Amino acid sequence: MSAMLLGIDHVGLAVRDLDAAADRYLRALGMTAGHRETVEAQGVEAVFLDTGDPSSSVELLAPLRPDSAVGRFLESRGEGLHHVAYRVDDIAAALEALRAEGIPLVDEQPREGSRGTLIAFAHPRGFAGTLVELVQHPEASR
Ligand code: CO
Repeated sequence: MSAMLLGIDHVGLAVRDLDAAADRYLRALGMTAGHRETVEAQGVEAVFLDTGDPSSSVELLAPLRPDSAVGRFLESRGEGLHHVAYRVDDIAAALEALRAEGIPLVDEQPREGSRGTLIAFAHPRGFAGTLVELVQHPEASR
């Protein structure tokens, strides 16, 4: 069974100040703020911004501590594009396809993401320097 690619779900942007960055995007581009959450275990606070297209959003990520993954990213690369998230209909099959292509995976198994999604990250080494996230939405389960 092969996974079907359903488009770009969101792009993740690393920022130092979540509120300031969100305010800038909302005012300048007329976006609206959506789901916001703090994931203590990952040391990150995230907010999803609606782009006007319900199927694609912008995720702003700010570190809760400097030694978190996003904190280290900001330290080494500064603010900007952190990951591109692709929506798939079958994340297990999509991960299997990446494995078959020899793409190094950050997550060997899908894990729980926000908004009831399943997510998994693949290493930037496998995709010319860009961290890739796979997302399966609950309605896509089959
Ligand atoms: Co994301």
